[in-house]
Amino acid sequence: MEVINQLQPGPEGHVAVYTKIVGEIKMEHPKEATVLVVGGGGRCHAIVDALSRSPQVGKIYCAPGNAGIAAQAECVPLKDTQVEQLRDFAIEKAVALTVVGPEVALAAGITDVFNAAGLRIFGPTKAAAVIESSKDFAKQLMAKYNVPTAAYRTFDEYAPAIEYVRGGPFPVVLKYDGLAAGKGVVIPETFEEAEHTLKDMLLDDRFGKGKVVVEEFLTGPEFSFMCFVDGERVFPMALSQDHKRAYEGDKGPNTGGMGAYSPLPFITDEDREYAMENIMKPVASAMVKEGRPFKGVLYGGLMKTPSGIKVIEFNCRFGDPETEVVLPLLKSDIYDIFTAIADGSPMPRVEWDARASMGFVMASEGYPGSYEKGHVIEGLEEALSDPDVRIYHMGTAEKDGKTVTAGGRVLMVIGSGDTLKAAHDKALEAVSKIKCDNLFFRRDIGWRVL
Ligand code: AMP
Ligand code: GLY
Repeated sequence: MEVINQLQPGPEGHVAVYTKIVGEIKMEHPKEATVLVVGGGGRCHAIVDALSRSPQVGKIYCAPGNAGIAAQAECVPLKDTQVEQLRDFAIEKAVALTVVGPEVALAAGITDVFNAAGLRIFGPTKAAAVIESSKDFAKQLMAKYNVPTAAYRTFDEYAPAIEYVRGGPFPVVLKYDGLAAGKGVVIPETFEEAEHTLKDMLLDDRFGKGKVVVEEFLTGPEFSFMCFVDGERVFPMALSQDHKRAYEGDKGPNTGGMGAYSPLPFITDEDREYAMENIMKPVASAMVKEGRPFKGVLYGGLMKTPSGIKVIEFNCRFGDPETEVVLPLLKSDIYDIFTAIADGSPMPRVEWDARASMGFVMASEGYPGSYEKGHVIEGLEEALSDPDVRIYHMGTAEKDGKTVTAGGRVLMVIGSGDTLKAAHDKALEAVSKIKCDNLFFRRDIGWRVL
């Protein structure tokens, strides 16, 4: 059996022929639009995969991409923050649509730079991306527009901050005000720990020169509500839940996410309606009123507390690893959705598969601390032989024709099925086929619902 997994010139020279490695040869018809995806982890692999299902999409470029993405897109050696070079690349290749994955590119103003050049791009401007890059901005916005969230105060000096925290209660939530790659939130259990963290954040500037948001500690299950947003228009995605801690039993250090699943049986239709009407829509409309209309994915990191659903954080982009389990459930053509938002044109119906999806992250031993790279990964094709399994590469590279580990989080293995249990079993079976001597994963993804 021959497997074609590379981009090849089509009859018109500029189009791509792409075939997924699913154990059969599937020649797709020549397609049209050239698309650029900015980013290189599992989230971008999921975006590239969703785009490749669109009959309107031809050649896909991904900058910088990774070894797994390379089977579906041509990887371009540009970093996500090289926004001027990316713009020049998009012009040179007549890219019809650029989709941005990581927040750093958005905070670096990639959308503004592309807009100024008349290029179509999916993702918020720098002024709108501030909803993620400044926790203080997000808290002020929520206070002004009565959006439910934890009580808070912001400090830019150590002395008043430590005085405020001294009287408790504990735990207390300390959030560094700036992009800190998921490491900017510390939840001290005692005054001594809080003192240590505030010193790091406000005296020693270990995170950079910034402010600290001190927040009330909330309890309850967390969930991710991602919406496609164009100004006042808000279109919900399937709900999902991330698992942030490194080890089973939700123990160990916080990570970028060790697994995710969708849908969420513990969130009722009323909960979702409440979150839509009291959080997602009012925030989209608040951004318009503030002169920062949001276009792109607005990610609500929400918590179902005993006193109602409240906001923990907003992100200005697709969640990672939530996107890897949510996008496989999208039935509509994602190219139509991206272009409708980017152009402000009528939105197609956004339809979701009623099936379930669950994904396990395989990470390098040592992650989120230091870890080795370059370990050979085997068994990927065998794991992928099940049509209910997808594998998105988070941090891999190619070496001497083999796939090797190249990041902290390396692979996300996703199963789908009629129930969460079926999706879980499919994913775990696929995980067991993957051989590598330096990877670990959490077996208890989805414990809350299984
Ligand atoms: P963030 O980067 O704001 O999402 O915070 C990272 C993690 O810290 C969240 O996913 C929560 O688990 C936790 N967290 C943040 N804020 C609070 C809060 N007010 N109460 C309890 N946990 C929180
Ligand atoms: N999964 C959390 C995030 O994307 O920030």
